[in-house]
Amino acid sequence: MTETTLDKDSCTRGLTTRLIGSVINFHDEVTSTNDVAREMAKGDAREGTVVMARSQTGGMGRLGRPFSSPVGGLYLSVILRPNMALGEISPLPLVVGLSVSKAIQCNTFKEASLKWPNDVQIEGKKVAGILVTSSAKGEKADHVIVGIGINLNTKIKDLPEDLQNIAGSLKEVTGNHIDPNEFTRDLLYFLDLHYSMFMEGQGESLMDQWVSRSSTIGTDVEVTTSNGYVRGKAIGIDQTGALVLQTKSGMARVDSGDCTSLTSS
Ligand code: BTN
Repeated sequence: MTETTLDKDSCTRGLTTRLIGSVINFHDEVTSTNDVAREMAKGDAREGTVVMARSQTGGMGRLGRPFSSPVGGLYLSVILRPNMALGEISPLPLVVGLSVSKAIQCNTFKEASLKWPNDVQIEGKKVAGILVTSSAKGEKADHVIVGIGINLNTKIKDLPEDLQNIAGSLKEVTGNHIDPNEFTRDLLYFLDLHYSMFMEGQGESLMDQWVSRSSTIGTDVEVTTSNGYVRGKAIGIDQTGALVLQTKSGMARVDSGDCTSLTSS
């Protein structure tokens, strides 16, 4: 059977989204879709514009790490222009994680769990990562770039050696080729739905859904932050998307960091 490749027309055929995917900027290869999207956002690119590529040569991950982006994965960035103060958009990475998890579940029938803040895992292996950056105009967000990288049909041997034990791809966990065009349509659908819910004030219900899909909440964790580390039981997230921990010395909340589970699976 021939394996489908990602292409601009097929991935938007029959798309029913209201905002996201209204403009598609498609590339075979770029350094980083986030960089392209950021440059477009500094101009007058429309909200909902999606920049996507079949591979990236300089993909960027959280905390300044590189994000390996070989052919077979899906790499896209969405330009958003929420009319909100910067402080109000902090739950957005989690909202995006929820969308990615649902798109993965629809296409694999596997449980795609959310590891705080925004890794998506299947059977403990990272299959997707999310990087959200924003730029302000005064108090308000001028634009937000939502970058999403998914190991769709990625061959694990094409990833750097140090990632090969911790990363998975949807093809390898299911044993089936994932149609990248169908997957993209599903992903854009969930992003569109959840972003509009978020903008309409339904953040709390989205955070509840996030918690119900999370592999972090209820486990003992260590979170490495820029100020050291915090250990405790992850008991929830607050309305800003921060992780709430019960530590030996009381409750703590962490805005960002790297979370490691201390509970053996
Ligand atoms: C992470 O897991 O650390 C986040 C990874 C985010 C990767 C995506 S791929 C599309 C977009 N372009 C980038 O350079 N990064 C994001």
